[in-house]
Amino acid sequence: MHKVFFVGCGPGDPELITVKAQKLIQKADVIVYSGSLIPPEIIKLCKKAQLHDAAKLVREDIFKILKDNALKGKLVVRLHDGDPSIYGAIREQTDNLKKEGIDYEIVPGITSFLASAAALGCELTLPGVTQTIIVTRAESRTKVPKREQISELAKHKATLIFYLSIHLIPNIVKEAIKGGYPKSTPVGVVYRASWKDEKKITGTLQDIAKKIRDEKITRTAIIIIGDVVNPKSYEYSKLYDKTFTHGYRKAQVKSK
Ligand SMILES: C[S@@+](CC[C@H](N)C(=O)[O-])C[C@H]1O[C@@H](n2cnc3c(N)ncnc32)[C@H](O)[C@@H]1O
Repeated sequence: MHKVFFVGCGPGDPELITVKAQKLIQKADVIVYSGSLIPPEIIKLCKKAQLHDAAKLVREDIFKILKDNALKGKLVVRLHDGDPSIYGAIREQTDNLKKEGIDYEIVPGITSFLASAAALGCELTLPGVTQTIIVTRAESRTKVPKREQISELAKHKATLIFYLSIHLIPNIVKEAIKGGYPKSTPVGVVYRASWKDEKKITGTLQDIAKKIRDEKITRTAIIIIGDVVNPKSYEYSKLYDKTFTHGYRKAQVKSK
């Protein structure tokens, strides 16, 4: 059956690509890739592929390249930065391919919020702080449902992560405080996580917008808001506690 592969190639560092993605890129006949966010080292893995930079194309052009080449029996890869399922606009393509009788497969990649957490050296789900991550974006030309307003999401005081929104950080800060985060809440921003020119900026809701303005960061950054970025206190995990029994290990001592 004819098939298109939607492949995530990670946040930037060419070593953060999966083996599966690497093999597909090497074998591909045709690749449509997200130009600005995929490093040349990854594109150079292609041995023979005809390359198309998606940044210069509209939806219909991309679809035609995917469809025509898949129907010719070519190995077609739609290459995404990070993971295809996160702000990757893939559904509109996969549904149209299905209508043409073309199958698809998604190959996951390391998304940029995980590379950003790694860069900041933080655990996003810290016992005693939060067990929840909310991943979102601030509204600009793309509308965000009303129930997902930042001030509503902020009420959970979970780890709150923003894609595509660094240029809107003053408003994000205002809404996060309105929703209930104290002004002293830690914030981490990572620009081009895992790239050679990566920048990490940390602060609080009180001062992060100014720091970002001073650094002149206006794109390609992840914002992480929450105590996990710089916790004052937290609890140790149950899983590795010597009083805790689970499927693979009995407690070594009785809990008091
Ligand atoms: C269209 S979205 C694509 C996200 C991608 N599919 C992913 O999983 O990371 C582009 C946004 O992802 C974030 N982004 C992508 N790569 C990044 C990186 N290396 N460091 C920080 N943020 C990044 C930025 O917020 C950027 O505006």
